[in-house]
Amino acid sequence: MKKISISLLAAVSIDGRIAAYSGHKSDWTSKEDKDFLHSMLDASDCVVVGRNTYEIAREPLSKRNCIVFTNMSEKSDRGTVYFNPAKQDFSVFAKEKKYTSIAVLGGTGVYTYFLEHDLCTDLWLTIEPVVFGTGLALFETEKFVMKHFHLQSSRLLNSNGSILLHYTRL
Ligand SMILES: NC(=O)c1ccc[n+]([C@@H]2O[C@H](COP(=O)([O-])OP(=O)(O)OC[C@H]3O[C@@H](n4cnc5c(N)ncnc54)[C@H](OP(=O)(O)O)[C@@H]3O)[C@@H](O)[C@H]2O)c1
Repeated sequence: MKKISISLLAAVSIDGRIAAYSGHKSDWTSKEDKDFLHSMLDASDCVVVGRNTYEIAREPLSKRNCIVFTNMSEKSDRGTVYFNPAKQDFSVFAKEKKYTSIAVLGGTGVYTYFLEHDLCTDLWLTIEPVVFGTGLALFETEKFVMKHFHLQSSRLLNSNGSILLHYTRL
């Protein structure tokens, strides 16, 4: 059986933030990162997002096969599945759906869930040359976790210095 690939895709500031505040749109990320992101989403069976991220980007995301993480009750709404990971095991769900390629788009609680549950196979990070000084971390957890990754590739995306890093889990 083909192994499920679960890719976490994130743009981060130099100080490791995915947004300056919850509700911050992705107007600070480069065109090259957006092009890369869209190519990855096109190649994925489904896209996993938190409810806030889905609300911010509902129009473009609703065209895709979306799984929206929520702590509330689960439901399906015009192709979008609202999924509560406390009620259902995500890996069982993904196997039942026969997904082989999953893109995880954040935010913090969603990235952290996949990290903590050892479900992430790949991490694609674009470091944008900007500092926020405050904001939402890529991962945030109550407990100490140390997860090791291996750098597969690094690519300079543009002359401003946006860098795309591809890590795999060890
Ligand atoms: N730079 C990037 O690559 C990137 C990527 C994604 C998002 N963002 C930005 O990040 C911000 C949004 O991120 P955010 O962290 O505030 O919100 P978020 O993760 O998009 O949404 C938070 C909500 O999603 C649900 N959720 C998240 N993790 C969950 C879990 N493990 N279990 C159950 N439900 C879970 C909960 O919904 P309920 O309230 O329904 O329970 C929670 O209130 C926006 O500004 C967005 O633009 C940036």
